[in-house]
Amino acid sequence: MSIRIAGTGSYVPERILTNADLEKMVETNDEWIRTRTGIEERHLAADNEATSDMAYEAGRRALEMAGIRGEDLDAIIVGTITPDHVFPSTGCILQQRFGAEGAFCFDLEAACSGLLFSLEVAHSLMKANKRYRRVLVCGAEKLSCITDWTDRNTCVLFGDGAGAVVLESSDDAAVPDCLIASDLHSDGSYTEILKLPAGGSRIPTSAETVANHQHFIHMAGKEVFKLAVNAMVSAGRQVLEDSGIAPEAIKLVIPHQANSRIIHAVAPRLGVPEERVFINVNKYGNTSAASIGICLDEAARGGLIEHGDYVLLTAFGGGLTWGALLIRY
Ligand SMILES: CC(C)(COP(=O)(O)OP(=O)(O)OC[C@H]1O[C@@H](n2cnc3c(N)ncnc32)[C@H](O)[C@@H]1OP(=O)(O)O)[C@@H](O)C(=O)NCCC(=O)NCCS
Repeated sequence: MSIRIAGTGSYVPERILTNADLEKMVETNDEWIRTRTGIEERHLAADNEATSDMAYEAGRRALEMAGIRGEDLDAIIVGTITPDHVFPSTGCILQQRFGAEGAFCFDLEAACSGLLFSLEVAHSLMKANKRYRRVLVCGAEKLSCITDWTDRNTCVLFGDGAGAVVLESSDDAAVPDCLIASDLHSDGSYTEILKLPAGGSRIPTSAETVANHQHFIHMAGKEVFKLAVNAMVSAGRQVLEDSGIAPEAIKLVIPHQANSRIIHAVAPRLGVPEERVFINVNKYGNTSAASIGICLDEAARGGLIEHGDYVLLTAFGGGLTWGALLIRY
């Protein structure tokens, strides 16, 4: 039994926030943001638009490409750190909207590595139990609602959006499996450098936590930067080694889109030419778990990859969490 990528989809909200807009909000400038991050603009969800609304749009497009209906789904997994609610899960909300009555649904929290972790879990579930034949995997975030719009160190970096992938199993021996190698990691000794401090059971929400801006992303940028480069290079090299596939045979590297300087530091160390590294951070900023799904969909619909091509996905995020998947698109 093999599993293939049957469809991809993505969605970004209509509203665009440019660097020039940010200049009016905090003490920053377009040149600083462009040169330090590569970001030119990002999309922000409307006030009445939640993470599930964006995941629904991305998922709908992925289902359409796969040629299947919501009711055909056996599971829905949503990678997100900005669920609509603490509970019920965003997955359950999507189930209702897709009419996916037979699907079991849950959210997976691995920050910016959310889509990679979710794909690995979905693939393993499908291998373990043949009843799960069609699984919708989404990465979706409304980071604008956990961004401190008064903090120039972080507010220039993030955006909203969603990406989705439909995995489908096949009994046809001629269909190759989409997952060739994976290398996923976490390191809980770095929980302090990238976190949202309050609102959980450790520091429940109070008037004080709100006043102290503890419901926003806090990040030690420089430290995260160094760890991100090393982690993505190490995981990327590992999947190349495990698969025995040469870097030259990789059609496209899709790194998590946090910062173009991180991406430019990772690419040469994987031995893949720069022109085979996908970048769209300039348009969307860092959309956390949504980022790789948006890239994969843009690459597929834009004709940069075709079925059968080797694609290396690599991500890094809070937790810390990181890893790489080598897939056959
Ligand atoms: C955040 C990040 C862009 C900052 O870039 P950097 O080159 O490390 O910049 P520094 O932190 O050294 O800051 C340099 C100066 O710019 C200032 N600065 C910070 N944000 C600024 C902004 N938006 N506009 C203008 N100046 C800014 C700082 O205050 C600092 O000033 P100082 O030297 O007077 O103290 C970079 O560290 C980064 O991308 N880190 C990784 C972030 C990330 O990917 N996180 C998510 C992981 S999933």
